[in-house]
Amino acid sequence: MLTPVLLSGGVGSRLWPVSRELHPKQFLALAGELTMLQQTLKRTGDLESSPPIVVCNEEHRFMVAEQLRQVGITASALLLEPEGRNTAPAVALAALQEFARDPEAVLLVLPADHLIRDTAAFAAAVTRALPLARAGRLMTFGVVPSAPETGYGYVRCGAALGDELFELESFVEKPDTATAQSYLDSGSYLWNSGMFLLRAATYLEQLGEFQPEMLAACRRAMSAATADMDFIRPDAEAFRACPADSIDYAVMEHTAQGGVVALDCGWSDVGAWSALWDVGTRDPEGNVCQGDVMLDNCRDSYFRSESRLVAATGVADLVVVETADAILVADRNQVQDVKRIVNRLKQEH
Ligand code: GDD
Ligand code: MG
Repeated sequence: MLTPVLLSGGVGSRLWPVSRELHPKQFLALAGELTMLQQTLKRTGDLESSPPIVVCNEEHRFMVAEQLRQVGITASALLLEPEGRNTAPAVALAALQEFARDPEAVLLVLPADHLIRDTAAFAAAVTRALPLARAGRLMTFGVVPSAPETGYGYVRCGAALGDELFELESFVEKPDTATAQSYLDSGSYLWNSGMFLLRAATYLEQLGEFQPEMLAACRRAMSAATADMDFIRPDAEAFRACPADSIDYAVMEHTAQGGVVALDCGWSDVGAWSALWDVGTRDPEGNVCQGDVMLDNCRDSYFRSESRLVAATGVADLVVVETADAILVADRNQVQDVKRIVNRLKQEH
């Protein structure tokens, strides 16, 4: 059986002014009625799967529990990290938990803050990759790249193993711009979407090979874990002593057992406001609107209103985000620069 594992540890604030440190984006309804965490959970509903596991920070436990309750999903465990140690240990905690229940368990590791437009295509890719994961491959989901992004991992597809299935020939996490550009030009690399399909047993075995200290710390943390209903707390001292690293650097760059399934499903990790325009439903003038918005002769823009009417006339290629205490107006093509504003706000306030 397949077990969805939701990584919900992010504390990012890239989508200012809506996403703040206390409300990271996975807990927000950025596209539609459901939060990104809820949409991620719902997306696994099309697959035959065991109850999900959510790995999150201790501080977010009630928010996560409430968001699950709202969509009628019962997790088998909420694994509470006293402090984040990045994704390799987070996946290890879930793998240890699930392996103890079912040594054959296959984990579908999902960041809780991504958007997917075509959920049927996503489910089909998971189903296609499942036999290879069962056979001991650590499966990545590769997306055709459209820009030399340096914030992503890149996978090079090797020999074909089936329909849209490949050996993972190499994995490079966050290359520099020149390298990313050369990967893009070569046409033989895909972006790593950050989702993985893997047997718990294989992951633990590979982690033990490449990061023995990390595996030992996670084992200690889980063998001394305490349970309070479905809240499971790994031993704090043992987990704090765990080295921090991402699954990408810690395991995927080293493994000889990787695989790739090509994924074409309108995936976005919503790194900036423009992503909500990219994946949103556009009106005939190319605008995406959320909330109380009135437009006249506007095009190709993203408008979001949370507490007041937002009206615009005669503008194009903008991002406008209104909240009760701040309004962002940005060029849709330069919206990455919002982080400069966030940095200035941190210094000046
Ligand atoms: N529980 C938990 N604990 N979750 C975590 C932790 C942690 O310590 N650290 C990160 N996460 C969650 C984040 O909330 C996010 O949903 C996911 O794990 C990935 O972490 P990011 O910090 O967003 O990683 P990234 O964006 O730099 O890179 C990853 O994603 C890219 C695609 O979006 C990599 O997998 C890249 O290779 C990939 O291209
Ligand atoms: Mg990310």
